[in-house]
Amino acid sequence: MRENKRMLRALDGVGVDRPPFWFMRQAGRYLPEYREIRAKSDGFLDMCYSPEKAAEVTLQPIRRFDMDAAILFSDILVVPDALGIRVDFVKGEGPKLDAHDTREKIRALRMTDVTAHLAPVYDAVDRIATALPKDKTLIGFCGAPWTVATYIVEGGSSRDFAKTRSLAIRDPETFRHLIDLLVQASAAHLVAQVDAGAEAVQIFDSWSGILPDREFEAWCVAPIRELIDKFKTHCPGVPVIAFPKGAGLRYATFAYETGADAVSVDMTVPLDGMQMVAETVPVQGNLDPLVLAYDKRRAMDDTKRLLEAMHRYPFILNLGHGIVPETPIENVEAVSHIIREWKNG
Ligand code: CP3
Repeated sequence: MRENKRMLRALDGVGVDRPPFWFMRQAGRYLPEYREIRAKSDGFLDMCYSPEKAAEVTLQPIRRFDMDAAILFSDILVVPDALGIRVDFVKGEGPKLDAHDTREKIRALRMTDVTAHLAPVYDAVDRIATALPKDKTLIGFCGAPWTVATYIVEGGSSRDFAKTRSLAIRDPETFRHLIDLLVQASAAHLVAQVDAGAEAVQIFDSWSGILPDREFEAWCVAPIRELIDKFKTHCPGVPVIAFPKGAGLRYATFAYETGADAVSVDMTVPLDGMQMVAETVPVQGNLDPLVLAYDKRRAMDDTKRLLEAMHRYPFILNLGHGIVPETPIENVEAVSHIIREWKNG
């Protein structure tokens, strides 16, 4: 029933009554009903691997704000977990992984039965697909190989990604082994999400923006192209949104170089830049999550400006990055209301 779904229509580049919207990290700590389930869970990964909890928190923002799309509640780091790399979420510190920063450790990594390990995630997808109102679209996702590789090599978040960048320059063959593994594992993970009921997928490359030009081609563009090629062999009609955060002037060529069906842009991209990208592919973005959190008036004005500038293009209204936990619910409600009530012209 593609005709009823604004999100899929926008991704197909056909007309809609108004742009569809959803927000990255729309399920999360800014919602009291999320915090309640989180408090009852034995850690963040436990939530990701509990189909009932994951399905419930995926649906929470839809009930409150009536977005056009739900994104599966999970994390990009379930893929390294499935590859046998230890992943922990430490309260207040973010993710901690068993750092793989030597040639020996990386070369010892092998493809595992990723989809068997992640079976509870697909169970969640199946439950969400069944429960979701029929005019909504369910989005599955994974991290891009580059971004996930930074967490694996650094052993967590990083300020400058020095270990990962230097490894890629000193020993590109070893780094390529890691990237190839992530391409394979991520493709399998995306296909399994679609088999379970996801209708579109998004690839998050949160740290592509730090790469100089040649490395951007080698570690962001090329692996995403391979990942999309593999995915499309199994799921030819399923749209892929790619989010190379911080790609700047490179957004314009990124889409046709990777074969992504739509591109998500961060808040540094100006309106005319978004319009330029939208001449080629549907564009998603790019309200500033900090404006949404701390300046409701401006968030409302920016929303109207985006709608005015972009409604003639295939466009999905979203943020330029994830919602922050400090965001007042009433700000999200105010912006959602403007979009839901917006009338073309
Ligand atoms: O968007 C959604 O609502 C779906 C769920 C989702 C989460 N993480 C839930 C989450 C998605 C799509 C992600 C993607 C993700 N995870 C990215 C790419 C997007 C981005 O933000 O750049 C990255 C880099 C990660 C890795 C990750 N997960 C970090 C760095 C952290 C810690 C920082 C933080 O925000 O707490 C997480 C934890 C995480 N992932 C939380 C949520 C709701 C918070 C965990 C908690 O409840 O304590």
